[in-house]
Amino acid sequence: MKTLLGKKEEQFRPINTDFLKAGGTEVFDIYQKTSAFGKTEFVKFASSHPSHQEKVRKLIDSGECTEFFIRQEDLIKYYHQATEQLRIMISDPAIPLLKKTQKLYDVSKDIMKNFFEYSDSEEVLKSSEEVMALTDQCLSEGKARFDTISKVINKDYLIYTHSLNVGLYCLVYGINDKMSATDIRSLGLGGMLHDIGKAQIDSAILDKKGPLTKEEFDIVKIHPRLGQEIMESMQCYATNVVCMASQHHENYKGNGYPDGLVGKEITLFARISKIMDVYDGLTTHRPYKKSVAPFEALKIMKNQMMDELDPKILGKFVRYMGPGS
Ligand SMILES: [Fe+2]
Ligand SMILES: [Fe+2]
Repeated sequence: MKTLLGKKEEQFRPINTDFLKAGGTEVFDIYQKTSAFGKTEFVKFASSHPSHQEKVRKLIDSGECTEFFIRQEDLIKYYHQATEQLRIMISDPAIPLLKKTQKLYDVSKDIMKNFFEYSDSEEVLKSSEEVMALTDQCLSEGKARFDTISKVINKDYLIYTHSLNVGLYCLVYGINDKMSATDIRSLGLGGMLHDIGKAQIDSAILDKKGPLTKEEFDIVKIHPRLGQEIMESMQCYATNVVCMASQHHENYKGNGYPDGLVGKEITLFARISKIMDVYDGLTTHRPYKKSVAPFEALKIMKNQMMDELDPKILGKFVRYMGPGS
């Protein structure tokens, strides 16, 4: 199992300078990375206080420095600032939906990356909820279809982009299925968090470039239970959201894990996340496995995976993926 990282270099995180340009209400220190004699150091450059903004802006505009960092403990403040600016951006009718979706994707990706790669605090994870709410607002208002998000998502399989992709697919499924606003948001959030149990599994196993041994697979198989435990301990997620983490490897006709549930014993949201999980797994590529095209993925799911997937939900998903749905 992973433990929290405590090395000096890892206490600093890169940030997106776009969110520094317009300022904000949060104040945190900004650092630059320097290397001398093979030693990396982080030097305080400015704060995000309005009086320092000119200095930051000038340096960004000059193109001399594009990389800025903040201390790990300021991540929450940074995400609040990013969220403030995302909120302003999505309410601007002049900005195209695709551009808004791309920005939201980038911030969410960053949050999930910090959580998975650095075992960041659950506080950071809660920022994802805020960004998912904005994404929901943006995609619902824009009546987004699957082709909108397929243009912004990462096609390389990484645990944090996979999590986000599943969240977005779930969100768009909910929008297309005309679910209530609460359900759409829960579905998107649960999709994004479905694999959080993997944050506690050794990355040497998760990143292995090849098939897993039985022992390794047995370890991976505990991630639904670990995810459930993490979410329950946070005491802020509804049961249908937690079940997406605990039940997304159950199979519709049984023999899945961890509980071997069958049919509607598996909650609706978990059955939906299973389909989005499989779809993203098939359409993204890994060093040892090529991705397949969307149409091919749907064919595989329909012809070879019917024991695992809810046929009714799969039918709707195929329909929503089609043109003009
Ligand atoms: Fe999983
Ligand atoms: Fe997954």
